[in-house]
Amino acid sequence: MLDLADRIKHSPQDFESALKGKTLGMIFNKKSTRTRISFQVGIFQLGGMGLFLGPEEMQLARGETISDTGKVLSRFLDGIMIRTFSHNDVLDLAKYASVPVINGLTDFNHPCQALADMMTIREKFGKLEGLKLAYVGDSNNVAVSLLFASVKFGLHISLVSPKGYTLTKEALDMSRAEAEAKELKIVLTENVQEGVAGADIVYTDVWTSMGQEKEQQNRLKDLAGYTVDEEMMNAAGRNALFMHCLPAHRGEEVSWSVIDGPMSIVFDQAENRLHLQKAIMVSLMQ
Ligand code: CP
Ligand code: NVA
Repeated sequence: MLDLADRIKHSPQDFESALKGKTLGMIFNKKSTRTRISFQVGIFQLGGMGLFLGPEEMQLARGETISDTGKVLSRFLDGIMIRTFSHNDVLDLAKYASVPVINGLTDFNHPCQALADMMTIREKFGKLEGLKLAYVGDSNNVAVSLLFASVKFGLHISLVSPKGYTLTKEALDMSRAEAEAKELKIVLTENVQEGVAGADIVYTDVWTSMGQEKEQQNRLKDLAGYTVDEEMMNAAGRNALFMHCLPAHRGEEVSWSVIDGPMSIVFDQAENRLHLQKAIMVSLMQ
């Protein structure tokens, strides 16, 4: 997938008709800037069409089941991308739809993001295997996909979070055996210095994810001390790059000087969502 994304990025003209006449339905039950626009632009650049389906647009909002929706959409569409709250809803949609279903973020994970991140890291370092990624902050949906992708692509990963914000056992259990077989380190720690030491990449995400707005004040208190700032970047090492899936809350999970600084690659990372998701669509929908 990463190789195909690289080819699409460097020779987009070769893929202009790859999905000619095909339609991607895009269900969004949460807000989005990058995912929505990169999928819509991506399918257009491949010769197809994207259909935005917001939370109030469909009969789902009035109680039509996921299974009926999946079966009906499959009669019209060539692929479905969905961003929603419950991960089980995505699994259900995939079960009942006969066309490919792409996870555009759930409360559980964010695989398109992590794949684009691996593409970006490989561009910067020329390799993936053996690198160390330190994820700092709330071990949320983005962290889960980074864990899965790190293990898949051969990176060591440390997840640096305070009590109550650590990775779920479920996610850890899903990757432990593969990590052990590949001799990859997965470190969970509250200690920032220990967690970021020797990291090639320091990654963070918002402290309050979509759907958690009521917890915001507590989260600000609990995660104070986990802001990725220059001191933390120095603790990681002089050559460590900074990544963030965006949107960022500057002054909370990351300081202005780090996200706007020379080690930040957040906009290359955002751009690669487009190329990587075009690769996903070509792989699934051609
Ligand atoms: N990173 C990401 O998925 O951004 P959006 O929420 O803007 O889609
Ligand atoms: N963890 C964030 C990621 C947004 C792309 C959220 O779920 O809101």
